[in-house]
Amino acid sequence: MATEKRYEKEMISFRDKYPQLTTTYASHGMYYYPARFIPQVVRYFIDNYTKEKEWIIDPFAGSGTVGVEALLTNRNAICLDLNPVIEPLLEAKTYIPKRQPDISIYFNLDNAPIYKPKWSKIEEWYPPEFLEILEKLWGIFYENPHPLVRIALFKTSRKFSLADDQVPKIFRSKKKRKQIEELLKKGNYERTILDFFEKSFRAVYKSSVEFKTRYKGGECIAKGSIDIVNYELDRDVNHLLTSPPYGMAHEYIRSFKLELAWLGKDDNEIRELTKLEIPYRNNGILEKFEIHSKTYEEYRKLIEEKKPKLVKVYEIYFKSVLKVFETLGKNVTDYMGIFVGNATFSGIMPHYDIIFTEHLEEHGFEHVKTYVDIIKARKLFKNRKNASPNGIETESLVILKSKR
Ligand SMILES: C[S@@+](CC[C@H](N)C(=O)[O-])C[C@H]1O[C@@H](n2cnc3c(N)ncnc32)[C@H](O)[C@@H]1O
Repeated sequence: MATEKRYEKEMISFRDKYPQLTTTYASHGMYYYPARFIPQVVRYFIDNYTKEKEWIIDPFAGSGTVGVEALLTNRNAICLDLNPVIEPLLEAKTYIPKRQPDISIYFNLDNAPIYKPKWSKIEEWYPPEFLEILEKLWGIFYENPHPLVRIALFKTSRKFSLADDQVPKIFRSKKKRKQIEELLKKGNYERTILDFFEKSFRAVYKSSVEFKTRYKGGECIAKGSIDIVNYELDRDVNHLLTSPPYGMAHEYIRSFKLELAWLGKDDNEIRELTKLEIPYRNNGILEKFEIHSKTYEEYRKLIEEKKPKLVKVYEIYFKSVLKVFETLGKNVTDYMGIFVGNATFSGIMPHYDIIFTEHLEEHGFEHVKTYVDIIKARKLFKNRKNASPNGIETESLVILKSKR
């Protein structure tokens, strides 16, 4: 689609800029999260656009990559997300262990207290034999809470559930059912579950120690259950760095129902969070929000013609995300970095980077540069028919500067 104005672009490979860093280094790989930032993107923004001790906000913080990178580079971060798991994830990922916690209390379950999740569907996701053991492990945990143990218990509770652990959704696969049936047949599953828990704990502890050795300073504030579309900051921050949801690519709350259940969330709390997720929420307060972007209008027309049923979700997606950037942008004194992959609305791929830029140019920002990650682009262009499952072709980091 033609746009009159050309924005300065630079091809880049964020991974190649930091060959010494892996995507899971320090505590980044502690727990799975869909569409997680690669830490190299965050590091590049921090190194090139921020200074030590400055404040960075991430309004779609997910698993908290910005929070971790901030503390590894002596910056401060505010990490907000609708998904409540941001709090336990960041608590663990930024935890500085003084000594290795003693997990031997988990190895005798005979008189263990029992923790029963409030979520009414929990029994549909576990064979009763496994659920009974997990309820005891969580019972012990709630009497002796520890941020690192909680992550090992999340891993264990997913592993022994019927939810496929390879799929970023809560989803029952035949393969997983078969695995669970085999484990049940083998018997002695208490030992198997405890062994897995111990192994998971060791991996979590190891990444926590790696975080500790690399920690440079700063503070990280994490808050979950925040509907960012309706949120205002009561202070200024230097920068905003985020990757918003990618079109219709994921349903985050749905993916995390098991974790939310073990965190004590009930049906009603989970339902209310689901209703606020972008772009699956209703229009409500967004009805009156105006988007100032020609490119947005062009794609809206195209979607109206080709996929009329998706107009609503397209509209809600851009209105929600742009309302967040416009509102929080008023409190940003320096740079905004927005990282986005071009995911499709059922085959139609709007230029997210251009739509965001056009709108924000009308709301106090000027475009500095758009970085296009060439590794992703190269891989996908080589084999065009084999587009990624979410239809993501390239990933871009848009840099805008506040005119304040
Ligand atoms: C692409 S992910 C961010 C991943 C993150 N950059 C990381 O490294 O883990 C987008 C996030 O937007 C969040 N989100 C969706 N709707 C939201 C809403 N209404 N308010 C706040 N966050 C929301 C999702 O929960 C998800 O974590």
